[in-house]
Amino acid sequence: MNILFASSEAHPLIKTGGLADVSGSLPRAIKNAKQEIRLILPAYPAAINNAGALKAVAKLDLPGIDSAVTLLQGRLPGTRVTLYLVDAPTLFDRPGGPYSQKDGADWPDNALRFSLFCRAVTAIAMNRAGLDWQVDIVHCNDWQTGLVPALLALENNRPGSIFTIHNLAYQGLFSQAQFQALDLPADWWSMHKLEFHNQFSFIKGGLVYADRLTTVSPSYAREICTPEYGCGLDGLLTARSEFLSGILNGVDYEVWNPGTDRLIPQTYSYRSLDRKRDNKLALQKAFGLPVEPGMALLGHVGRLVDQKGIDLLIDIIPALVQRPVQLVILGSGEKSFETALVQLSQQYPRKLQVHIGYDEKLSHLLEAGSDIFLMPSRFEPCGLNQLYSLRYGTPPVVRRTGGLGDSVTHTSSTTLQKKTASGFVFEEASAKTLLKTIDRALYYFAQPAIWKQIVQTGMKLDFSWKRSADDYLALYRKTVSPQRPETEKQ
Ligand code: ADP
Ligand code: GLC
Repeated sequence: MNILFASSEAHPLIKTGGLADVSGSLPRAIKNAKQEIRLILPAYPAAINNAGALKAVAKLDLPGIDSAVTLLQGRLPGTRVTLYLVDAPTLFDRPGGPYSQKDGADWPDNALRFSLFCRAVTAIAMNRAGLDWQVDIVHCNDWQTGLVPALLALENNRPGSIFTIHNLAYQGLFSQAQFQALDLPADWWSMHKLEFHNQFSFIKGGLVYADRLTTVSPSYAREICTPEYGCGLDGLLTARSEFLSGILNGVDYEVWNPGTDRLIPQTYSYRSLDRKRDNKLALQKAFGLPVEPGMALLGHVGRLVDQKGIDLLIDIIPALVQRPVQLVILGSGEKSFETALVQLSQQYPRKLQVHIGYDEKLSHLLEAGSDIFLMPSRFEPCGLNQLYSLRYGTPPVVRRTGGLGDSVTHTSSTTLQKKTASGFVFEEASAKTLLKTIDRALYYFAQPAIWKQIVQTGMKLDFSWKRSADDYLALYRKTVSPQRPETEKQ
């Protein structure tokens, strides 16, 4: 099959969160399964700089932009996956993030930027870019690619389309005036199409028009069909539930493997756990905490936003510091959370240290050096950090939501006996329950033999991409070229 994989970020080109981890590793797993998959991203400066050799292979004449758009071709670093970058300098060549400016505000022309990206993806999907490449499947990811299935639905003899929801809370909503400026089909402004409560919704383009919908864990696939998690789209998703499935994300064990990780001071495996301690000491030093090998070190890495339940964590810090623990946090996001954490760390400097910012290397050290990883998310489509912490022998404390509940087995006398216990799972999104669950983890942490069993169980779990990639392949096969005659499908 020929598969075009469209995403707005991919590790190691550009990353703001887990979408980049998935887009940087799933295409390689599909390629390893001997399919021709090509990855396409906007040509942000970071993507151009990190991609290595690139050559211009096509000029695209797209509506909505005066200058021609150039298609650059290279390879996703470290893989055999062909990479396309959509080079439209007036839209993508600017400092700052892929979606927002340095001060955190969204780029005001995001509707134009990503509609142009979607048009470029559609041109390649329809073999109109002069690449002489007949696409069977277009795999779109999150709202930034949402218009692709809608644009494809206007075409005859089109490839099949799959839209993966990595996070339903981010919908790509814009005003009616912005919609009108994009010169898109006027009839899209309908609640049955891309209008959503009087706004223009990119994500609805995917949800309404893609042949198949997926999300990144089986539980989240069920949750988003309910009002509690559906972000107002549960009715639509329920109506399309026949075409919706959940496939748990995998882990790129070439990047996230304590046995080979070059970003940590000491590599280790479940057979050499004593070496994990060196990372703990390095982590305590890196964060300026007293170096205390026996003290339980709790860690958190993530975007400091409501989704991650960071407010629950902030609420329990005064109680947590009364216990024999230290806490390290790496993250950036909402200013109010950043400020609250920094203030608390000034109040309890020997117990809590916070690094505000984005730091790839430090995130590996934190996974390797912590004893317990905290992830009290209010919702979590899949979550990757709990998968990383399992592999790094850092049992996670998670809330049972989305992919967290699908990947972590709560420690109880039954699961300990069955040797399946890998972490600590709680139900209610409250500070009290989070604290109670951390206390439970500390209770077992104080019992080295049991703790070792929990650690080793988690480290031996296999969340490699192979199984998830097989599920995607099966789905691709079911979806190939819905409008092409049966004989052409393969
Ligand atoms: P989400 O995509 O919702 O942010 P995930 O758990 O799926 O959550 O993925 C988050 C990814 O981003 C992980 O690879 C994590 O290590 C990384 N990450 C998040 N915040 C930071 C940070 N401040 N520094 C380094 N890496 C980070
Ligand atoms: C989103 C979700 C996260 C998921 C990631 C990759 O950012 O918030 O749970 O792991 O996408 O699919």
